[in-house]
Amino acid sequence: MGRLLIAISSCRTSMILLVNLFLILNGQNRLAAAVSAESRVHIVYMGERQHNDPKLITKFHHDLLATIVGSKEAAVDSMVYSYRHGFSGFAAKLTQSQAQQISELPEVVHVIPNRFHSLQTTRTWDYLDISSYSPLNLLHDTHMGDGIIIGLLDTGVWPESVVFNDDGLEPIPARWKGHCESGQLFNGTTDCNRKLIGAKYFIDGFLAENNQPFNTTDNPDYMSPRDSFGHGTHTSTIAGGSFVANASYKGLALGTSRGGAPRARIAMYKVCWNVPQGQCSSADILKAFDEAIHDGVDVLSLSLGTQIPLFAEVDERDGIAIGSFHAVANGIPVVCAAANDGPAAQTVHNTAPWIITVAATTLDRSFPTPIMLGNNVTILGQAWYAGKEIGLTGLVYPENPGLRPALAGVCESLSFNHTSVDGKVVLCFTTVTRRSAVSSAVSAVRAAGGVGLIVAKNPGHVMGPCGDDFPCVVVDYELGTQILFYIRSARSPTVTISPSKTLVGKPASTKVATFSSRGPSSITPAILKPDIAAPGALLRFSKQNTPIGPLLPLDQQL
Ligand SMILES: *[C@@H]1O[C@H](CO)[C@@H](O)[C@H](O)[C@H]1NC(C)=O
Ligand SMILES: *[C@@H]1O[C@H](CO)[C@@H](O)[C@H](O)[C@H]1NC(C)=O
Ligand SMILES: *[C@@H]1O[C@H](CO)[C@@H](O)[C@H](O)[C@H]1NC(C)=O
Ligand SMILES: *[C@@H]1O[C@H](CO)[C@@H](O)[C@H](O)[C@H]1NC(C)=O
Ligand SMILES: *[C@@H]1O[C@H](CO)[C@@H](O)[C@H](O)[C@H]1NC(C)=O
Repeated sequence: MGRLLIAISSCRTSMILLVNLFLILNGQNRLAAAVSAESRVHIVYMGERQHNDPKLITKFHHDLLATIVGSKEAAVDSMVYSYRHGFSGFAAKLTQSQAQQISELPEVVHVIPNRFHSLQTTRTWDYLDISSYSPLNLLHDTHMGDGIIIGLLDTGVWPESVVFNDDGLEPIPARWKGHCESGQLFNGTTDCNRKLIGAKYFIDGFLAENNQPFNTTDNPDYMSPRDSFGHGTHTSTIAGGSFVANASYKGLALGTSRGGAPRARIAMYKVCWNVPQGQCSSADILKAFDEAIHDGVDVLSLSLGTQIPLFAEVDERDGIAIGSFHAVANGIPVVCAAANDGPAAQTVHNTAPWIITVAATTLDRSFPTPIMLGNNVTILGQAWYAGKEIGLTGLVYPENPGLRPALAGVCESLSFNHTSVDGKVVLCFTTVTRRSAVSSAVSAVRAAGGVGLIVAKNPGHVMGPCGDDFPCVVVDYELGTQILFYIRSARSPTVTISPSKTLVGKPASTKVATFSSRGPSSITPAILKPDIAAPGALLRFSKQNTPIGPLLPLDQQL
């Protein structure tokens, strides 16, 4: 607590410095304001709320804004949100000079421009030893999360997903003050149940910033809590998904799927919109925090982040740090993703000391996929290949006869001019650990009529199928080089690729996944973040006729 108090008092100090600076620069600023009188969404942050009556607080916000914009009507017009449950403040469309005038009022702590955040990204819980089969563990001590309400700030939910089934759940806790909002393709009455008990969407900050209506043709999304992207459905499944028996990807990874707290209730606060940059505005995020605190969630989970350089924890431009500060002050723990910018050091996001920052790890499950070369040597790669055996087919490595022979076989720049690949399996090498290198190689090989791909790369700790039943098997550089030497030595190299198998429970040390951001905090290295690390697998269901909603693009499946 000492740390929090220090942080806040230093925030006040810098605020005073800032105001002084404004006074000194006042003459120049008027000039600047005349040049840019354009209104932008600003967040006016006023700290702890001073009243318990939310209506009074909003009236106070309108009155305060009216003194700057000239009239009550203009104040109501320009206000986007009044924050009044978890803390006090508002978001409003203001010119630069209006923002400056407000920042000089004694009630105001900070005024900052709105900004955008982006999205981050069947065995996990048994592996963490909180198996539902064991009667003696945390899961049973907590009745599998029964009675707990998990709030998520994300891209929305796909309510038809089987993970939101409410079989065997008691009625909604009476203390719950939230609800489900209706909207485009989302009926708040029928799409919610005793599992999904809250669903709201927040877009006003995003719209006011973009100054135009949200075009759901250009940006496939729904003006409702419905998830068009898959991210929010994925994160809520991991946190609190119900039991789904016999879940698998075409038989691979077969098991009972469930969230960490399978009997917890889920409340979705949709703050991110499906535009190319995956945007969630601070004004909307703060409103979601404000309402979640009011609604009565017990814990909040966010898989959103900003970019390096990070803002200081007390800078409202990082809406997550300030929103979560007020949530924690109200007794609600906030769990945030560490982000996926690893493996370099100091890439962790969401580093405020009051946030529980979570990294991603590997688990003890693998998908061995036999590659038998024409010389009868069998090499085990890793893949999610559930198709038929690719029997004794030609194997090629795109050689470059020039001075730089390695260049032709780079996965992310494969291009084939001739028919040498038709009906064959291709070997390529890459130094890129992200899935995007694999995806582009698969497209190039398929386009040239190839029937399979072997990728030699460093572990990226991200697994998934390569399109529908296309074998793309990952090996390390040593095995890849072994395959390459075989190709170079054989007159007509061949290969047989067998379907993948699922292997669990083999002793394997847990690693923080390559993609997961590393600490320490880039703001202050004394903050050793992330705090904890856990695996998080994306689930697909092979059950027939089960609407599963949208799936994340391949390179974002973590
Ligand atoms: C939602 O469904 C209920 C029950 O079927 C129906 O009465 C109500 O009109 C629907 N609401 C909307 C907004 O479609
Ligand atoms: C949305 O975008 C599409 C394609 O660009 C366009 O045809 C349509 O008129 C736009 N809709 C609105 C409401 O602006
Ligand atoms: C799951 O699969 C097993 C084996 O095929 C079967 O015995 C069991 O009934 C299935 N359970 C459900 C809920 O479908
Ligand atoms: C590989 O094994 C097959 C079947 O056992 C055998 O016929 C063939 O000669 C072997 N090839 C080599 C190169 O050893
Ligand atoms: C592909 O063909 C074009 C035109 O024939 C040629 O300019 C290019 O160098 C070729 N690329 C490769 C990789 O062989």
